[in-house]
Amino acid sequence: MSEESHVTPLAPPQIYRRSDEEWGATATTKPKVIHHKHGRSSKCFVYLLLFLVLLSIASLAFGLVVLRINAPKLKLELVEIKNLKYTAPDFASLNMTMVAQVKIYNQNFGGFTFHNGSTSVVYGNTTLGMTYCKSGLVRGRNSERMTVAVQVKANNGLAENKNFSSDMGSGLVKLSSYANLRGEIRVLKHFTRRRTSFMNCTMSLNLTSQAVQDLRCM
Ligand SMILES: *[C@@H]1O[C@H](CO)[C@@H](O)[C@H](O)[C@H]1NC(C)=O
Ligand SMILES: *[C@@H]1O[C@H](CO)[C@@H](O)[C@H](O)[C@H]1NC(C)=O
Ligand SMILES: *[C@@H]1O[C@H](CO)[C@@H](O)[C@H](O)[C@H]1NC(C)=O
Ligand SMILES: *[C@@H]1O[C@H](CO)[C@@H](O)[C@H](O)[C@H]1NC(C)=O
Ligand SMILES: *[C@@H]1O[C@H](CO)[C@@H](O)[C@H](O)[C@H]1NC(C)=O
Ligand SMILES: *[C@@H]1O[C@H](CO)[C@@H](O)[C@H](O)[C@H]1NC(C)=O
Repeated sequence: MSEESHVTPLAPPQIYRRSDEEWGATATTKPKVIHHKHGRSSKCFVYLLLFLVLLSIASLAFGLVVLRINAPKLKLELVEIKNLKYTAPDFASLNMTMVAQVKIYNQNFGGFTFHNGSTSVVYGNTTLGMTYCKSGLVRGRNSERMTVAVQVKANNGLAENKNFSSDMGSGLVKLSSYANLRGEIRVLKHFTRRRTSFMNCTMSLNLTSQAVQDLRCM
């Protein structure tokens, strides 16, 4: 502050002294030089500002693209029915192994390390089977396939359910399958976010073909 106030009073006498020596020529050029110097520094300032603006746009774009972290997508690709045993329509019961192939697509730039996951098979409101999945890793911008086997059992609990008996009698049973996968996505070594992926599907079990049809996922 004090230095600046010292400099400004010193500047005008310098100009006056020089303009005394060569009045005609310098009187017009001097202000021009000062004006030019002033213009250069403001241009510098504009470039600096422009650079900073571009830098923040670049880091914003970087942040939006690289640091935007979404839960990886789960896709039920295939469902196979094994060891199917059932009684219907009286004393309706069902016992089978449902083997599902799930594709985990990690669209993020960082790897997805999952620890917890579960897949369940549900009829109406009743859970018929559930499996916990092991841990694993899906690298960034990559996908992995996981095979999940769920032991499905429907006996005593659903024996009283009229819908279940009639479904079993018709040979077509509507089932839902829910899956979730909990884990962390790590971007740039130190930036970690927790995400949970969900899968929500409906399907019909055809007792005649011993296969699943009308598979729909949301
Ligand atoms: C279901 O079937 C398996 C063999 O596929 C058998 O080991 C199991 O005991 C059966 N469960 C019931 C409740 O019938
Ligand atoms: C998830 O896994 C952690 C250990 O890896 C365990 O402590 C926790 O209970 C699990 N949560 C569920 C909901 O299974
Ligand atoms: C499912 O359960 C809820 C409450 O637990 C009940 O209100 C609902 O009616 C049930 N739905 C079916 C289809 O049974
Ligand atoms: C049977 O199905 C009907 C219609 O789909 C539903 O309203 C009812 O809650 C179901 N009953 C049970 C016990 O799930
Ligand atoms: C599955 O999706 C349906 C339709 O969007 C929704 O009503 C239901 O609550 C979902 N179930 C789960 C467990 O997310
Ligand atoms: C169940 O599967 C059998 C044999 O593939 C087929 O003939 C029948 O039409 C299927 N049932 C339904 C309701 O699609």
